[in-house]
Amino acid sequence: MPNLRETLQQTHHSLETLNIPDARLEAEVVVMNVLRMPRHEIFAQQEREITPQQENDISAILDRRRQREPLAYIFGYKEFYGINLAVTPDVLIPRPETESMVEHALFMALMGMETPQLVVADVGTGSGAIAINLAIHLPAAHIYAIDNSEPALRVAAYNVQSHNVADRITLCYGDLLEAMPEMSDPPGPPPLLDLIVANLPYIPSQRIPTLQPEVQKEPKAALDGGEDGMEVITRLFSQAGNHLKETGVILLELDPEQVPAAQALAEKHFPEAETAVEQDLAHLDRFFIVNRGPGEE
Ligand SMILES: C[S@@+](CC[C@H](N)C(=O)[O-])C[C@H]1O[C@@H](n2cnc3c(N)ncnc32)[C@H](O)[C@@H]1O
Repeated sequence: MPNLRETLQQTHHSLETLNIPDARLEAEVVVMNVLRMPRHEIFAQQEREITPQQENDISAILDRRRQREPLAYIFGYKEFYGINLAVTPDVLIPRPETESMVEHALFMALMGMETPQLVVADVGTGSGAIAINLAIHLPAAHIYAIDNSEPALRVAAYNVQSHNVADRITLCYGDLLEAMPEMSDPPGPPPLLDLIVANLPYIPSQRIPTLQPEVQKEPKAALDGGEDGMEVITRLFSQAGNHLKETGVILLELDPEQVPAAQALAEKHFPEAETAVEQDLAHLDRFFIVNRGPGEE
């Protein structure tokens, strides 16, 4: 029976042969998951023997990677901003750059907003990655997590339950902000929002076939932003005016090339607002902020 060192080497080699980027790191992650061991133990127990069952499990994972199935779908979870989220092929796998969006949202919420009882919409919630982290870190906020994919909302519901934030996240099915529910007690229109966060599909349609094979296994509806990538974001801007408080903020993730188009939309729909652009971890312009009413100095 092979030992852990040999298994790690073989797994690394197989992944390299498949041209998987970061094959060494991925081999470690595969072995860690199959053996249910943290990284430091993998290196401390190099002589430990691998059972036939573990060998089979690794080989089954490699078969699926050969088909370019993303590792997160194979394992059924992805770590995002310090928590594990269930993911299935019905949802986009949350990206590291979106962690920066959570950070910006938290910074704005904690530093700039008038009240801790924030009302937030996470539009295009997918796995619930953004909404759940905001609920965890903003204990007085209420978050409406919206998606127009029912299968995605089922995944989000599971994650919301498993992170114990179901009392502060309302899952809403429908098109962008039109999915916001009316108030029941007392009856009235949907609540006005302090903050809209949205990582909506923003990849131009013609670019989709050129994306990595793993990305093409993700839901097209989570990626495809229409001809210029801005179709869904453009509609969000046209709906946002009716839903955002006079002091409200919109925080969007987009492609750096889309910043001028987002600026034009902000000027059209919120001519009085201040706008800002923030960068992601790779120092690319990735987040567009519309601050509707900075308030009095
Ligand atoms: C890029 S994914 C983002 C998922 C998640 N927020 C994240 O950051 O990992 C975009 C999500 O927007 C949803 N979506 C696309 N068009 C929508 C629409 N018109 N209304 C509501 N949700 C939409 C998709 O189903 C998908 O879950």
